[in-house]
Amino acid sequence: MQGIPKIPYFITSRYRVATMVELANVKPTDIAADLGSGDGRISISLAKAGIKYVDAYEIDDNLRLIATNLIKKDNIYNINLLNQDFWTVSLSKYNIICCYPMPTIMGRLERKLKEELQPGTRVLLNYFPFLHWKEEIIKDNIYLYLKK
Ligand SMILES: C[S@@+](CC[C@H](N)C(=O)[O-])C[C@H]1O[C@@H](n2cnc3c(N)ncnc32)[C@H](O)[C@@H]1O
Repeated sequence: MQGIPKIPYFITSRYRVATMVELANVKPTDIAADLGSGDGRISISLAKAGIKYVDAYEIDDNLRLIATNLIKKDNIYNINLLNQDFWTVSLSKYNIICCYPMPTIMGRLERKLKEELQPGTRVLLNYFPFLHWKEEIIKDNIYLYLKK
């Protein structure tokens, strides 16, 4: 992650998490990447919506601990909580991507997703939109994009 600004911790409010999951239109065959999963709230909601599994990338130890406890409390078995920098992994296998990004990384994130994702992959962003992709839907400041 050298040279890439770290997204600080801000939470997605409960109603926006619900909107994200609604717009994700989860199917039992979907696999998702939660890029910077924080306390796991988005991953947990995707899991409860019936997704196959979620890889939740989070580099903050304390947030991973909080997420671990919440995931255990809800008896969820299809979230892989990963202590891994999402910039260093290929995202090509996922067909849902969720992120609460920040303005200074938008160009880099767009380029990474453009290079790696399969066509039709759903990308859900909270609050900060892409600069060059045309969204399919905006609701409650959640942006849904379909990879072309
Ligand atoms: C804006 S918060 C979003 C938290 C949660 N997804 C939510 O919406 O409530 C961004 C999170 O990304 C994590 N993060 C930042 N850069 C990361 C990276 N390169 N790889 C994995 N996690 C990262 C931060 O520690 C932080 O928890």
